[in-house]
Amino acid sequence: DGMMGEDEELERLRALKLLVVDVVGALLGLGVFVCGLKFMKDALSGINPGEAENTPEAQKHATRLAKQKLAALVNDARNPVALERLQNLSHHEVAMVAHVVLPAQISTGFDDVGGLFETKKQLRELIIAPLEHAELFARAQNAALLQPPKGALLFGPPGTGKTMLAKALAKESGARFLNLAPSSLLDKYMGESNALVRAAFSLAERLEPCIIFIDEMDALFRERTSGDHEVYRDMKAEFLQLWDGILSSGGSSGLPPRVLVLGATNRPWELDPAVQRRMPRAFKVDLPDVTERRAVLQTLLGGVSLEAVFNWTEIALETEGFSGSDLKELCRAAMLEPVIDALSSIAGLNAKDGGDICDRFSRSSRELNEQIQGLVLRPLAMADVKAAMQKARPSVVVGDEYRERVAAEKSAQAPASDSESAVAMLSQVFQAALNQMATNGN
Ligand SMILES: Nc1ncnc2c1ncn2[C@@H]1O[C@H](COP(=O)(O)OP(=O)(O)OP(=O)(O)O)[C@@H](O)[C@H]1O
Ligand SMILES: [Mg+2]
Repeated sequence: DGMMGEDEELERLRALKLLVVDVVGALLGLGVFVCGLKFMKDALSGINPGEAENTPEAQKHATRLAKQKLAALVNDARNPVALERLQNLSHHEVAMVAHVVLPAQISTGFDDVGGLFETKKQLRELIIAPLEHAELFARAQNAALLQPPKGALLFGPPGTGKTMLAKALAKESGARFLNLAPSSLLDKYMGESNALVRAAFSLAERLEPCIIFIDEMDALFRERTSGDHEVYRDMKAEFLQLWDGILSSGGSSGLPPRVLVLGATNRPWELDPAVQRRMPRAFKVDLPDVTERRAVLQTLLGGVSLEAVFNWTEIALETEGFSGSDLKELCRAAMLEPVIDALSSIAGLNAKDGGDICDRFSRSSRELNEQIQGLVLRPLAMADVKAAMQKARPSVVVGDEYRERVAAEKSAQAPASDSESAVAMLSQVFQAALNQMATNGN
């Protein structure tokens, strides 16, 4: 009986609370702009000007940026941050605000990332869904197990879309994105780096759901060595400790705050093992296969008017070894062909046969400008892509060739001692054999 009474009482309180929340919500909505302005003034008054290399202009600029960001956060239509959660920011937190990106400000979505079908599917299930539908996941039995991981890693060869995917992830999940570059953490003043790391985590908790993104993670978290600078060592230790802390601290709903540390690297093997352990989910972002290259090409050339016969599969087949970013360069080079053709149609502007477009542009007259403005570009043709393929090749291959050529030139220049040139020759033979094996293997 007493229990019943308590339940009713609770129910009434809950209803009252809902009503209050509604009214307060409406009032907040009205007053948000005015309050926002006032509170930003308060939050920003904590900034400490006159630090050694902080020039007044830099300080002013940083303050202006932070103000804009805070205004955007409070007015973020998709999920506005409660004002009280942004009150009393420390000046380190204000410094971190400059690195916050809102989902609405990100232009790259999952659809802009071509291929990577399996990776995208896994990211949707394991990260986006729990971030986006937190209430549902919290209601499940054993909710703690279903929470999004506190750490995840995107790894794979250069130019495959890791950075792009990370941004898309924030957009798709509606999470705020705290883009942590090493430069935003490392500070030469003792203790300052640690304060910045603490600020990054505390701000992320205020902004929950939030993805703390560390691009090129190997740069910040390479394996620790005895030669590491003390400041750097301390900073890393602090970071790892706070990272563990996200798991144990209770968020607003009683569950841990939805803060995810997301790293990207093309050298996963160089990462500190302690960091690797905290990222139980690693997503491979590999070079695209034929089907994926076709998808990437179609994404990249979406909206471009094409010749009637355009054989996507043929291009996809002929671009083995190209990364997403190589394919982008290929498309860029291809799209230049119609432009060059159009320019060549202007009398005296023979861009194709040895004419240097830039040279001619520099002495362009008004008449020439008008002619250029009147140009109509023809649709992109297969032939343009073929022509571009002669120029744009996988960057890794180009890099390897350059390295070989430099090595060859070196050994040709200095046929120093007999033993040295013998070693050089041997290594060349060895390299050639390796290359042979590599091409045969494909
Ligand atoms: N899968 C893809 N779909 C569409 N465009 C892509 C894809 N992968 C790469 N690109 C293009 O290449 C550019 C570089 O990609 P991104 O910076 O994401 O590569 P990354 O994997 O982070 O490389 P790195 O390891 O060198 O940092 C992108 O801006 C995009 O234009
Ligand atoms: Mg990158």
